[in-house]
Amino acid sequence: MTYEQAREVLQRLGQEHVLRFWSQLDQGGRAGLLKQIEELDLRTIERIRTLLGSPAAREDATAHKDIQPAPVVSLRGGEEREPRRIGEQALREGKVGILLVAGGQGTRLGYDGPKGTYALGPVSGASLFEIHARKILALEKAYSAKVPFYIMTSEGNDADTRRFFQSCGYFGLDPERVKFFVQGTLPAFWPDGRMVLESPGRLFLAPDGHGGILTALDRTGMLADMERRGLTTLFYFQVDNPMVEIADPVFIGCHLKHGAEMSLKVCAKRDPAEGLGVVVLREGRQAVVEYTELTDAQKQARRPDGELPFKFGSVAIHVFSLAFLRQEVAAGLPLHPAHKKVPYCDESGTTCKPDKSNACKFEKFIFDALPDASAALLLEFAREEEFAPVKNAEGEDSPATSRMAMMEKFARWFAAAGVRVPRDDAGRLTCRIEVDPVYAHSAETLQARLPAGFRIDGDVLLGKA
Ligand code: UTP
Repeated sequence: MTYEQAREVLQRLGQEHVLRFWSQLDQGGRAGLLKQIEELDLRTIERIRTLLGSPAAREDATAHKDIQPAPVVSLRGGEEREPRRIGEQALREGKVGILLVAGGQGTRLGYDGPKGTYALGPVSGASLFEIHARKILALEKAYSAKVPFYIMTSEGNDADTRRFFQSCGYFGLDPERVKFFVQGTLPAFWPDGRMVLESPGRLFLAPDGHGGILTALDRTGMLADMERRGLTTLFYFQVDNPMVEIADPVFIGCHLKHGAEMSLKVCAKRDPAEGLGVVVLREGRQAVVEYTELTDAQKQARRPDGELPFKFGSVAIHVFSLAFLRQEVAAGLPLHPAHKKVPYCDESGTTCKPDKSNACKFEKFIFDALPDASAALLLEFAREEEFAPVKNAEGEDSPATSRMAMMEKFARWFAAAGVRVPRDDAGRLTCRIEVDPVYAHSAETLQARLPAGFRIDGDVLLGKA
């Protein structure tokens, strides 16, 4: 892109100020700025300007006043059998791919590096990426199938993520089926709709949220790759939940049987204050409403039986049909504004770090695709079996609580196999337990593999050297 072309684009968007330090930039600075301008998502920037100009168009709690709880499917007893058969068949036929979003910055955890490289295995210290990758390898072995693994990174962590997988031998997966792609970025905006310059030759850019996956899949050729491989169904999850049952055949089977375009696993919220988005019916369509977008009355309301009316939260475990992903790329997801502290460059060209929110960042959320689905399924799951995210350094949803939840799940598998699990008088585990997913990925597979007379006398790590 030339200077003239950049100026023309910026003029059209009312953003000429971006070039105001041009005469002071050296060659490298000019080239860098032109590249940023060239890569801007112009369609989205126009939408943001419209949004900033019309407060009524913004998402806020008042937009969610006419909502009801969405219907949720709960499977009982033998009801799993048929969906399991359908899901397993799709896996065996190689129709299922895996989508992982791992582009986040992990600010709350405060860990230096991609969150997926965090060592979480209770005994092995396996990274989150390793735990996920080994589950996919277990699927490939169990169903004699190829299960491609698509990983979304962001500019800030892409190189480190790729290097990590490479240095760990892709955890046994075939590198040909591990595909990395980088999510897009969006500028931050002053309240008057101008983009924020971080320094004289640089726009401030931030990742565009997990909903950025749609445009990123398209832009980087991943949708075409999925089509080439004959995939029809994509299982989606987040990097920070080591308990996720990746490509759970029952979930996939329910999705396919229902003819759904998008499906979500949902669980009962821990308490009204838990920050999960809740599933609702709005204008007859299923939708997820972010916790922050509910009013206090909506969060705290109770039904006469004491239950929360908006009881079921989404934990970002989804299944999509590939055709629906394509459709949603074209439709474009809504943009959510968030007022943040954004470093900016003042009139003299000096970068300043504000101590309070000064500008608006925008993100897209993948769950906003839900109302567009002509058929969608919400399936209840048991939290203790599948959800223990690593969000904070300490306290709730931290590495400590997540490791404990993993160990308790393994402990249930051992108990089901008739193995005594050592506990103290208060019922707490007195040793650490871990099972590599390739060794066993369920109570049944563990039972089938355990040597006769197996006992737990101290820490256990099954399936690793
Ligand atoms: P979170 O919203 O928990 O954000 O992301 P985070 O970056 O991991 O952590 P905080 O909020 O900074 O503490 C949920 C999932 O979405 C991915 C994350 O990697 C995580 O798997 N994500 C989030 C992206 O891939 N891109 C984004 O822009 C944001």
